[in-house]
Amino acid sequence: MPHKVRGVIAAAKGVKVKVGAVFVPDPGPGEALVRVQACGVCHTDLHYREGAINDEFPFLLGHEASGIVEQVGDGVNNVEPGDFVIIAWRAPCGTCRSCVRGHPWYCFASKNAQQPMTLADGTALSPALGIGAFAELTLVDAIQAVKVNRAAGPEIAGLVGCGIMAGLGAAINTGGVSRGDSVAVFGCGGVGDAAIAGSHLAGAHTIIAVDIDDRKLGWAKDFGATHVINSSETDPVKAIRDLTGGNGVNVAIEAVGNPVTYEQAFYSRDHAGTVVLVGVPSPDMKIELPLLEIFGRGGALKSSWYGDCLPSRDFSLYIDLYLQGRLPLDKFVSETIALDDVEEAFAKMERGEVLRSVVKF
Ligand SMILES: NC(=O)c1ccc[n+]([C@@H]2O[C@H](COP(=O)([O-])OP(=O)(O)OC[C@H]3O[C@@H](n4cnc5c(N)ncnc54)[C@H](O)[C@@H]3O)[C@@H](O)[C@H]2O)c1
Ligand SMILES: [Zn+2]
Ligand SMILES: [Zn+2]
Repeated sequence: MPHKVRGVIAAAKGVKVKVGAVFVPDPGPGEALVRVQACGVCHTDLHYREGAINDEFPFLLGHEASGIVEQVGDGVNNVEPGDFVIIAWRAPCGTCRSCVRGHPWYCFASKNAQQPMTLADGTALSPALGIGAFAELTLVDAIQAVKVNRAAGPEIAGLVGCGIMAGLGAAINTGGVSRGDSVAVFGCGGVGDAAIAGSHLAGAHTIIAVDIDDRKLGWAKDFGATHVINSSETDPVKAIRDLTGGNGVNVAIEAVGNPVTYEQAFYSRDHAGTVVLVGVPSPDMKIELPLLEIFGRGGALKSSWYGDCLPSRDFSLYIDLYLQGRLPLDKFVSETIALDDVEEAFAKMERGEVLRSVVKF
């Protein structure tokens, strides 16, 4: 018997999201039904609504979530009812060509629930990032449900499921930031500030935050930025060179998803440095760079999908560091909101008023 719950649906490109009835099946083999306790509003949800990810409308939005396992299907042994979990949008399959090569963080066949969640008329919903957690219940592959210490609380744990992990991992896993490095982070939203926190945790010496919004730059300092640059007033490439003895940074992290900021990141890097693109561009965006500059500057131009994380390894690690007082994850939660307030939260995000609004159930 499917469960009828309330969920946030993006029905068509650019149309405001609405809360409607969602039908969630009981878990089949390998699946877990999770009662969602909290789900953050990430910019990627807005990208979905704008049709910038794909056009498989209607979407069931929400993907930064934590909750309690309610029921599991046959053959599930990693979680059981009552467990507190973060829902991951990467669940390595173990058998694709990337997993077999020993690179499960690139898994090309990440697992999701087999059965669809639907509208009342049976239309299958596309769950955002294979999750769909702006809903009271959601159905996922059990491997997507990662057990963590419940002492962190649902709002903070949920954010680790996407933006925080993407930013921490962009710095630590993809960028390989380490002790003594200099880092610049372009875009200081939830993802960018997590990249700043990750750089701080990894022992970076200089951490330069770049944004066009002074309020965001103020918050970036709370996560460990040693310098801030408002790039709507100051040329960030020149300012970053001035702050690094004329050389540029070892690692430049782009957390906006924009060719302008990517180019700034590219040119603000020292020779043999690394550029990490964690922001998600839209399909129309293009960039042109002199090939000689790409060659001559050396180093690496990398993309970071989910911070190259392994949820089963990394989620508990960062929750524990938070509980030990070594990672200020609580500072990411700007406000808690109701399910009906997601559209308004998109507007607040666009106006730069929040780092993360989190739906609390
Ligand atoms: N790669 C991944 O796995 C992954 C995961 C989660 C989110 N994302 C993406 O990361 C990006 C950031 O997400 P978020 O939730 O932090 O978004 P956000 O809206 O909270 O933050 C974006 C920040 O960029 C700043 N900004 C906008 N234009 C700028 C410019 N020209 N120069 C400098 N700063 C500028 C904004 O002021 C804001 O502070 C989005 O594109 C999102 O889709 C990627
Ligand atoms: Zn795989
Ligand atoms: Zn996200």
